[in-house]
This record gives sequence, structure tokens and C-alpha cells, in this order.
Amino acid sequence: MSINVLNRNIDEVKDAESRRQLEYIERARQKVSELEKELGRKPRACVVTFGCQMNARDSEKLLATLTLAGYEESESEDADFVLYNTCTVRDNADQRLYGRLGQCSNFKKKNPHMKIGICGCLMQEPSAVEKIQKSYRFVDLIFGTHNIYKFAELLNTCLESDRTIIDIWKETDRIVEDLPVLRKYSFKSGVNIMFGCDNFCTYCIVPYVRGRERSRSPRDIIREIEKLSADGVKEVMLLGQNVNSYGFDFSDGDSDKISFARLLEMVCEVEGIERVRFMTPHPKDFSDDVIDVIAGNPKIARHIHLPLQAGNNEVLRRMNRKYTREQFIALADKIRERIPDVAITTDIIVGFPGEGESEVDDTIDVVRRVKFDNAFTFIYSKRAGTPAAGFEDQVPEEEVKKNFDKLLKVVQETAKEQASKLKGRCEKVLVEGINEQDSTLLTGRMSNNTLVHFKGDESLIGQMVDVSLDECHGFYYMGSLLDT
Ligand code: SAH
Ligand code: SF4
Ligand code: F3S
Repeated sequence: MSINVLNRNIDEVKDAESRRQLEYIERARQKVSELEKELGRKPRACVVTFGCQMNARDSEKLLATLTLAGYEESESEDADFVLYNTCTVRDNADQRLYGRLGQCSNFKKKNPHMKIGICGCLMQEPSAVEKIQKSYRFVDLIFGTHNIYKFAELLNTCLESDRTIIDIWKETDRIVEDLPVLRKYSFKSGVNIMFGCDNFCTYCIVPYVRGRERSRSPRDIIREIEKLSADGVKEVMLLGQNVNSYGFDFSDGDSDKISFARLLEMVCEVEGIERVRFMTPHPKDFSDDVIDVIAGNPKIARHIHLPLQAGNNEVLRRMNRKYTREQFIALADKIRERIPDVAITTDIIVGFPGEGESEVDDTIDVVRRVKFDNAFTFIYSKRAGTPAAGFEDQVPEEEVKKNFDKLLKVVQETAKEQASKLKGRCEKVLVEGINEQDSTLLTGRMSNNTLVHFKGDESLIGQMVDVSLDECHGFYYMGSLLDT
């Protein structure tokens, strides 16, 4: 874990709310140092993250607050402050939290100083908060997604009180800049470019728990990336639920109003940034200017994650995805034609209401035509409060499982076929770490997101190196380092 905490110096912090939170961190520091004296050791804090890259980025901010307040980071939940940053996109994410909470209560029985907090998307659902208040009474702090920037303040209140502190907002229109961040990796970082989602796909809970789309100003984004670059970051991933609708919420005539394509260009111009990724674009907004910018800019990763969700037009219509299978295929063809060597990956849901075998066959047909380099396949999970939860033609579990297996087989076949296409080539690779299975090997990531393992020295971690791709092993390559 890299201990680069940005904006440690309070005088550099422009945002007044962020300055206020830094003052709360100072106050929490005193309380944590008293605890340290009492315990006779440094108090430990653990942040457990569920869900997507956006949650992972939020967790880096939460952890920065805790470490600046004087906690030592702990991988284990046997700690003095445990914070769960939750997800609720599918039911299994909810269940994972409840399982972990049960285990955590055993640690608390042994450690009376221990505080347990829960935040993130699931806490935006009133029924989940009720359940925790009723069945998990040992939880000390609950807050949501909209006031996450107030964590330092809430931490103070929580350390002062024996009651459960609950603070959840329904909405927010503000973006707090300059919060401290403790990055997981020294050489790569996520960068939020927008928050929330306005698409309301009928199966999806995200617009309800993350609120309306809010884009960060391009100046703030570029300033953050310049600082990251000065701090040694080589790769950034621009984050948002629908990155290519970036800027749609700025008013006409606003000097901030730029397109996602323009933002991509500006990010590539930041000195020291060698690779730029983004996640997730929506097919309906994937305009030609974005394709042109990627095609013309080798810094932008040759990897596009383009969620299909379904390949049958009636299912897509009922999902409110706003494209047809024909439009999706045409877009993927255009991307492959204009950006040679691009890897296209996707998300697919199986078992949406009304989706029987013949509809899933349409999805399989799209998979065969587009030849996805990889696909995340999910079983439809009914989310209370979304329109699809009220659709009458929910599909029986057994049928869903059968269709899911059928799709998965084809997805794996196509991915395998695609994986070997780079064999023998020399590729630029960002070295991410030592191989987990064999410590004589390094692991790096190519522009198209595929991993490669090769012999090399630890000192190369965080560097961009040239590697020849010798053997393809399904989803990864074995390679050898080339002299530069
Ligand atoms: N904004 C992104 C990702 C959203 S969540 C997008 O538009 O694609 C990540 C993935 O979770 C989605 O792409 C979708 O495939 C899946 N997902 C969302 N809601 C789901 C649900 N109710 N059941 C199953 N999978 C779901
Ligand atoms: Fe959910 Fe659709 Fe928004 Fe993605 S675009 S977060 S799937 S509502
Ligand atoms: Fe989950 Fe929230 Fe992300 S629901 S997928 S953590 S936006």
C-alpha cells in the first residue's frame, strides 16, 4: 500500500469543506492518541470494500482519513476501527456484508474499544439500515454515499459517543474536492470524473443509491491528475457510471462544458501520464469523436469495456438500454475497425424478466459476432424499488441457470479464441507487482488489459517496460523482458 497522502498540507487545500474535514481529522488524532496510550499500541483500522471501482476509490479516501487520524492500516478485521464500504447492485453483495458483520461481532466481543462502521451504496436503502439497527445492534456508525466526504466529522462523533451514529442523505448536488487519499498503488490510480447515474436501466439500483449525474470540473480533474503524475502515477483510470455522458450536466455556455472526448485528450496531455483507461462507457453515448480520439492517441488503453447486458431487442427495450442489438454490433464493428488490436469486454445479465432461451440465444449470437475478449456474466438479481422488480414475467431460477451456463460456454470459447491473437508480439507493459504464485516472476498489464508474467527484478514495479509475448495461457501470457 502506497502511503502517498495527497494534500497533507492544509494551506494547499482550496475547498472550504475539505479544510473543515481536515480540522476534524486533527481532532480525531487526539482521541486516537489517547486510545493508543490506553491500549499500549497503535490502534488499527481496516476498510473492507465491496463493489465497483468507484467504491474502491472512495475507500482510498476513507482509509486516508483513518491513517491521518493515527490508525495503522490493518488487512484484518480484528482491528480497532472496521469500516465496511458496501455495494447493493446484486443480492449476493448484500449477503456478503451480513456474513462478514456476523464474524466481526466476535472480534468486538473481545475488544471493547472496537468501533464498527458501515457506509456506501447499501446504506442508501432504508430497509437495510433498519435491518442493521434491529439485528446488528453492535454497529457504531452508519452513513451513506452522499455525505462520505464528512467521514472525518462522523468519525469524531463516533469516537465520542456510545450510541449508534446514523447520518444518511437522500441526495446531494455537491462535489467536495481535495479530500486526502491513500492510494493502494503508487503507480496507478482511479480518478472520478463524474458521480451518479441518470440512465435508470430498469434492473439497476445504482441511480437510486448514487443519485443524479454530477460531473467534476475539467480543471479539478486535470489538477488532480497533474498531482498524481508528480507523485509517480503513470496510469489513470477515469471513473464514472457512464463516463461518456461526462459534461452533459454543465449548462450551455459554461466554460467547463467540454465533451468526454476533449477531456480524454486533455488527460493525455498531462506530462508523465503514460496510459489512460476509462470505466464505464454506455454504448448509447459512444460517439465517433471518442473513437477518433482513442484511435489517434496511443496513450489511451486498447481496451474498451462496453456493457451489452442483453442481445435481444425486446429485452433491451424493457431494460431501458436505449440501443438495439444491431446498433451495438455496428458500434463494436466500428471500434474494431478504427482501433486495431482493441480488446472489447462486456457485462451481460441473464434472467431478466421475460428472457427465455430464445432471447438468450440472441445474446449468444451477439457474443459470437462481436467476439468479446472477456465478459462478466451475471444472474439477474431483483432489486426492490426498481421498475423490473415489479415486472410479472420473472424467470424461474432453474431456467435462468440453464441459460446462464449455455451463455457462459460461448463467452469462454470466444474469449479463449481472442486471447491468443497477440502471440509473438512485443507489448508495452506496466509492471504491477511480483507474481503471486512464483516470486521469481513479475506481473504486468498490457494496454489491452491482459496480464503477462515474465522474469525480472522487483525494482521494475511501477515502470513501463517492453515484453515479448511468448506463450498464451488462456487469459494470460508468459513473456520475456526486452532490453530497451
Ligand atoms: N454503469 C455501468 C455498470 C453498472 S453495475 C453500466 O452501465 O454498465 C455493473 C454491472 O452489474 C452492470 O453492467 C450489470 O451487468 C450488472 N447489474 C446491474 N444491476 C444488476 C441486477 N439487478 N442484476 C444483475 N446484474 C446487475
Ligand atoms: Fe445502472 Fe444503467 Fe446506470 Fe449502468 S447505466 S449504473 S446499469 S442504471
Ligand atoms: Fe455497487 Fe454502488 Fe458500485 S451498488 S457496483 S458499489 S455504485
